[in-house]
Amino acid sequence: MNLIYKVLLLLALCICNAESTDPSGEFCNRNTNTSRNSQMSANIDRLLSELVSKTASNGFIATSFGKGKDTVFGLAQCRGDVSSTDCSSCIQDAANQIRKRCPNQADARLWYEYFFLRYNNKSFNGEVDTSFSIVYFNVNNVTDPENFNKELGALMDEIRARAIEPKNEGLGKGVTKLSPFVTLYALVQCTRDLSQIDCAQCLAIAVANFETFCENRKGCRVLYSSCHVRYELYPFFFPLGSNNTMADTLVAIVHP
Ligand SMILES: *[C@@H]1O[C@H](CO)[C@@H](O)[C@H](O)[C@H]1NC(C)=O
Ligand SMILES: *[C@@H]1O[C@H](CO)[C@@H](O)[C@H](O)[C@H]1NC(C)=O
Ligand SMILES: *[C@@H]1O[C@H](CO)[C@@H](O)[C@H](O)[C@H]1NC(C)=O
Ligand SMILES: *[C@@H]1O[C@H](CO)[C@@H](O)[C@H](O)[C@H]1NC(C)=O
Repeated sequence: MNLIYKVLLLLALCICNAESTDPSGEFCNRNTNTSRNSQMSANIDRLLSELVSKTASNGFIATSFGKGKDTVFGLAQCRGDVSSTDCSSCIQDAANQIRKRCPNQADARLWYEYFFLRYNNKSFNGEVDTSFSIVYFNVNNVTDPENFNKELGALMDEIRARAIEPKNEGLGKGVTKLSPFVTLYALVQCTRDLSQIDCAQCLAIAVANFETFCENRKGCRVLYSSCHVRYELYPFFFPLGSNNTMADTLVAIVHP
């Protein structure tokens, strides 16, 4: 893979729990400069207020605002295991943040632990978009790679299959006990505008990053605009187990 990548941050951090308000990632497409188009900018604001008011009830919305060339398309989705209360507390902040971080872009995306938000003046509904990715990995390695990778592969296959069952609305999650003391937790999710086959394709592309960027790592997450995948050796999704946080060092890789 000839991907250009750069290591963005090296952080010693306490992996975010519910209260975390910092996004996990952002993308502002510099090629979509709206500073000479005030109508489009106004449409983005109107679109965002619609997303803010309508996402929580159903956990997902894909909509558009405006006419002709100035139309903007938006999508907002809560992580499938998160309550609408926890999700909606994030939405307003996300809408403010995305305008601050990408003030003049018609194509902007923001990833949070519980929530994903994007808009674009080009329609993206139902399309698999893996053009931009963010990978986080735990710098620590597992002690028994052979068994770990076997179990990880099996769990990923299982939850990917779950994610494309229509009743699960793009979400798959599961756990595997690796030993009496160690449990592997994994979650995958597609945006709900994708068909089953497109969801499966996105997840396959995302999981393939594990080998490239996260081999033998104790934790990894890959964020795309159409899906994300993650595994950890601690619980990070609902319903939560007894210990839900862990101090560790994470590295982020962003490309292109
Ligand atoms: C989106 O907006 C940018 C900047 O105004 C413009 O260059 C581009 O052609 C637009 N794309 C579409 C599909 O309208
Ligand atoms: C967008 O266009 C404006 C006016 O042409 C320019 O001043 C500004 O630097 C551009 N911003 C970006 C991010 O390219
Ligand atoms: C984990 O393994 C990688 C690749 O072998 C190595 O570069 C890295 O230093 C290891 N991490 C730790 C914390 O030992
Ligand atoms: C996590 O929970 C288990 C039992 O549920 C406990 O034995 C262990 O000490 C806990 N670990 C941390 C880091 O709190």
